[in-house]
Amino acid sequence: LASSFAAFSDMSKALDQKSLAMSPVQRPEMFIIGAQPVCSQLPGLSPGQRKLCQLYQEHMAYIGEGAKMGIKECQYQFRQRRWNCSTVDNSSVFGRVMQIGSRETAFTYAVSAAGVVNAISRACREGELSTCGCSRTARPKDLPRDWLWGGCGDNVEYGYRFAKEFVDAREREKNFAKGSEEQGRVLMNLQNNEAGRRAVYKMADVACKCHGVSGSCSLKTCWLQLAEFRKVGDQLKEKYDSAAAMRITRKGKLELVNSRFNQPTPEDLVYVDPSPDYCLRNETTGSLGTQGRICNKTSEGMDGCELMCCGRGYDQFKSVQVERCHCKFHWCCFVKCKKCTEIVDQYVCK
Ligand SMILES: *[C@@H]1O[C@H](CO)[C@@H](O)[C@H](O)[C@H]1NC(C)=O
Ligand SMILES: *[C@@H]1O[C@H](CO)[C@@H](O)[C@H](O)[C@H]1NC(C)=O
Ligand SMILES: *[C@@H]1O[C@H](CO)[C@@H](O)[C@H](O)[C@H]1NC(C)=O
Ligand SMILES: *[C@@H]1O[C@H](CO)[C@@H](O)[C@H](O)[C@H]1NC(C)=O
Repeated sequence: LASSFAAFSDMSKALDQKSLAMSPVQRPEMFIIGAQPVCSQLPGLSPGQRKLCQLYQEHMAYIGEGAKMGIKECQYQFRQRRWNCSTVDNSSVFGRVMQIGSRETAFTYAVSAAGVVNAISRACREGELSTCGCSRTARPKDLPRDWLWGGCGDNVEYGYRFAKEFVDAREREKNFAKGSEEQGRVLMNLQNNEAGRRAVYKMADVACKCHGVSGSCSLKTCWLQLAEFRKVGDQLKEKYDSAAAMRITRKGKLELVNSRFNQPTPEDLVYVDPSPDYCLRNETTGSLGTQGRICNKTSEGMDGCELMCCGRGYDQFKSVQVERCHCKFHWCCFVKCKKCTEIVDQYVCK
């Protein structure tokens, strides 16, 4: 199965390479003036997504931005683990690891979908899109009566709906036999996309600003605001830790492998395949392996040399670290520091 997010990754790559301006796809102005070739040249879009791309061209840059944010968050959340959200296949950010319906794949789908909701909701608020504006969420019932509701809020309703339409399009147009492994994978992707979108939706909260004479705060204006994306990442990481192992039934539904566990809710992540061995480089699974990864000699966690290096051992080397030190506050108002160099021991997996 092809990676659902190859398209997003390619788009975000194109946006990364603004200055190179190599191909039309890599020129950001193509997104802005909305020239027709964009949608036909973006690699990895499904037919349905290509149509949506043509209808909503101005959204494409934000989809790319959101996906990129999701990928960055994935790399942050997994920075100390064997699988660090990078793969062998560099043609798309997630590459071939996505072929396996693992827990890790579940996370990448969820966090990318979350990134798209986030970026589109924000773009609406900022007036960047012609089809949406500020959030029109009703005033929360528990908001104190003398506080004003009506600041321009992040439009998570629109972000959620648009991301659902666009991100799920690829899955919805597949037509696999009921009860087949492929259909199981489609259901898994849809569930994880939804979990990612809901995380953003549910974590958006009321924010307020004070007005009134010299900060007296006699008047408050409030609006709906997205949570920091790091918090969404943390939440999805917890969902990753508690993800449910599923299998496809002959009737074409996902069911728990172990029926003693709780049924997953739409906010939970699910997976259908066990995780591959991320210890060794394997072109088939897209695992980079942990050779050359830096590990922590004293940690007993996943970042510790024992677990990170999968028992293969590690090499020690000295590395020079430059730090700011002996900082002094000068009147008024800046801080001056010296540079100190320190030689530290580092460990890398064999
Ligand atoms: C991917 O990796 C190959 C070989 O390592 C390299 O030749 C190619 O330029 C890379 N492609 C991208 C898009 O980075
Ligand atoms: C790579 O992973 C696949 C699937 O798990 C396995 O069948 C294969 O033997 C592995 N290849 C190597 C070279 O380890
Ligand atoms: C992930 O690990 C690989 C080595 O296994 C390394 O080359 C790569 O830079 C790491 N990526 C990140 C984002 O840390
Ligand atoms: C290594 O792990 C130990 C124990 O968890 C921790 O106290 C220390 O800060 C870590 N060192 C680095 C360089 O991350």
